[in-house]
Amino acid sequence: MNPGSKQALSRQLASHRGQYGIDGGGRALAGLLWPAGGGLLLLGLSLLPMSPKPLLQRALEFLAGAALLQVPASFFYSTIRGKFAVWAELLAGLDLRGNERILEIGCGRGAILAMLGKLLPEGRAVGLDLWRTEDQSGNSLESARTNLVSEGVADRCELHTGDMRALPFPDASFDLVVSNLAIHNIPEKDSRREAIDEAIRVLKPGGRILIADLFRTEEYVQRLEEAGLRAVSCRPLGWRFWFGVLGVTPRLVTAEKPASGTSPPETTPPDLPP
Ligand SMILES: C[S@@+](CC[C@H](N)C(=O)[O-])C[C@H]1O[C@@H](n2cnc3c(N)ncnc32)[C@H](O)[C@@H]1O
Repeated sequence: MNPGSKQALSRQLASHRGQYGIDGGGRALAGLLWPAGGGLLLLGLSLLPMSPKPLLQRALEFLAGAALLQVPASFFYSTIRGKFAVWAELLAGLDLRGNERILEIGCGRGAILAMLGKLLPEGRAVGLDLWRTEDQSGNSLESARTNLVSEGVADRCELHTGDMRALPFPDASFDLVVSNLAIHNIPEKDSRREAIDEAIRVLKPGGRILIADLFRTEEYVQRLEEAGLRAVSCRPLGWRFWFGVLGVTPRLVTAEKPASGTSPPETTPPDLPP
């Protein structure tokens, strides 16, 4: 596909009709109260015409207020538009045939799953989630189902309730496994590792994996390399995916499971005879 057609496809994927909530749910909104409140207060102080104060102080208050207000602005941009634009470009760039079986672990209300459905006229997009409202506002099986219907892809998609640490799917049953902002929600490192191992298990030989996340991406890279996946890479996702989290670089981790016939390196040393 030429670059012009890819751009058109990604614009088409990014536009959506469903309601996808706010990532991080109430916790994220509560965390934004301080920067939003502090930012408005400082901007107000800097612009108050009556109060006598040096120009430098006004300028500093203004700059500090604007910097704080950028946190909620970035968060809302990322959750409402940025993640759709970023994933639309990623998926348009995959050159899918349209008959693949693709799994999203932690699909939530279906923002990425619906895009996958649009790319799979003869395939299947499968979403799995525990529907935790603390990770996405209004999260539920029903809201995901309603969105898939609104986007016109319900017949190409499946929804499963389950835990990504114990996937209810056979080995080697998907061409691609994707995950967006989901694995970091598992608090324990060993459990996050189980989720990565499960994603690898259900991937077909030659299949690909794409994980976008705000935190813990270095762990995913390490585990994928230990498990012998090929072409493991990690790159920043840029300002559209910043989600207002200061000092964090959201990243995309990608890898490929070796095709059958090529054996991955051992992840643990074999038992040696005494
Ligand atoms: C921030 S939301 C992102 C949802 C979706 N990927 C998107 O981009 O809109 C994180 C999702 O991970 C899900 N999740 C968290 N822990 C999970 C687990 N152990 N197994 C399955 N899903 C999980 C939550 O229920 C939530 O839907």
